[in-house]
Amino acid sequence: MIMKTKILHYPDLQKAKLRDSKSSNILSIKNEHFDDLKKLANGKKFYIKTYGCQANVRDEETIKGMLTQVGYEETNDIKNVDLIIINTCAVRENAEDKVYGEIGNLKKIRKENPDMVLAICGCMVEQPEILDFLIKTFPEVNLYFGTHEISYLYDLIYLALTTRERIVNIESKQGDVFEGLPSKRNNNYKAFVNIIYGCNKFCTYCIVPYTRGKERSRRFNDILDEVRELKKQGYKEITFLGQNVNAYGKDLNENHDFADLLEEAAKMGIPRIRFTTSHPWDFSSKMIDVIAKYDNIMKCIHLPVQSGNNQILKLMGRRYDREHYLNLVKEMRAKIPGLALSTDIIVGFPNETEEEFNDTLTLVDEVKYESAFTFIYSPRRGTPAAKMEDNISYKTKSERFQKLVDRLEIYISKDAETYVGTIQNVLVDCISKTDNKMVSGYTEKNKLVHFPGDETFIGQIVKVKITESHTYSLIGEIVHE
Ligand code: SAH
Ligand code: SF4
Ligand code: F3S
Repeated sequence: MIMKTKILHYPDLQKAKLRDSKSSNILSIKNEHFDDLKKLANGKKFYIKTYGCQANVRDEETIKGMLTQVGYEETNDIKNVDLIIINTCAVRENAEDKVYGEIGNLKKIRKENPDMVLAICGCMVEQPEILDFLIKTFPEVNLYFGTHEISYLYDLIYLALTTRERIVNIESKQGDVFEGLPSKRNNNYKAFVNIIYGCNKFCTYCIVPYTRGKERSRRFNDILDEVRELKKQGYKEITFLGQNVNAYGKDLNENHDFADLLEEAAKMGIPRIRFTTSHPWDFSSKMIDVIAKYDNIMKCIHLPVQSGNNQILKLMGRRYDREHYLNLVKEMRAKIPGLALSTDIIVGFPNETEEEFNDTLTLVDEVKYESAFTFIYSPRRGTPAAKMEDNISYKTKSERFQKLVDRLEIYISKDAETYVGTIQNVLVDCISKTDNKMVSGYTEKNKLVHFPGDETFIGQIVKVKITESHTYSLIGEIVHE
């Protein structure tokens, strides 16, 4: 298939790095070809696959909402489809490898259906070298758009459908805030609510600030209106989203911070409020006090530490040291009894020594996390860490990774054991994947629980007595009141 490439914008990492102090534009969507696309899309089918973090999942919901508005219908039948969108993640190499595999599998489907639009979006295409590679390797793809271009989706699909050219529209920019975008949520009792986009932290290993633009907060009242509407629709749980939720409001002239936002949302009475992710650098005592004060703010904090060693933290550009982190944990634990702490840890940062790694293990011993995500460092082209010398073999990194997981699991299992005999409020999610007579859901502190039940439980908060614990899940039975 020979297709001309029409480049509207191409990514540029130098531009992606810029940060100014201007407040961001609040925009609503405007697409020239909305009505034209409506005529072409009516009754057509789309398929979307999303990789990566909750920011991408929330973007998927926006994309689904937009497509539904012009008449597209979602399908899981990939053989019978008019539009395929692959929403990508670039945070580690294995995230990218999955996408390459996925596009490879789509080649045949694309060949059999020349009228289809095959689109790639998300964080991967924000990197110029990866985009070059994708364009060269996968001629079947006829639309690329970035994280800042979702709001122009109607025009982009229309162009791809009508010009028969490959459309590339990825502009590296600091970004705007769009309000009033349609949305088709994946769930009708649990919702993600964006509060701040982008990231200004530039941790030296991380690609996210380059793919997502600068930190820009949504207006206080726009967020609260969304929460109010979710409450009205019967949602049981909301999760405030941001790469750093604690930085909320710093870029606005509204005089509201994350603590104010949590407090106002809590007063609205949604049964469960969560938030992710918290950067230890921006976490104030005021926020801790608000979390402690309201029963419907879940007593769970995801507080990525990345490393327990000060030299590595410095090289990572994390802006805090071990002592600051441990003091913060101490204050949180003192003010919030029973707090569940979770974290992210990177093993094998360039030239990390055995002693430096051991500091991470001793930090785990001190904090005793209830859950953790662990990663082997993956160099990201364009980031400062990717240029650092690294003499540590992959084998050593893998061994350390296993050691870390083993250490974390001691505390995770011990914590799980303390649940046996207790009664927990569980928000039920689905029929269990391994046993169709069981349902699965999460406790207030985010522990996965399986217990006998059927689909009538889904979306309900029920009382469950815990009878058995495993490292990563609990087993229980419903309590009849
Ligand atoms: N904004 C959030 C999450 C960012 S990405 C935060 O700062 O906590 C999620 C996690 O991926 C990070 O916390 C980090 O542990 C991990 N990560 C990011 N870049 C990575 C890389 N290059 N290699 C390995 N892990 C990485
Ligand atoms: Fe990446 Fe650091 Fe920003 Fe998190 S805070 S998204 S790890 S740069
Ligand atoms: Fe991945 Fe982009 Fe999220 S790189 S982790 S999808 S912000």
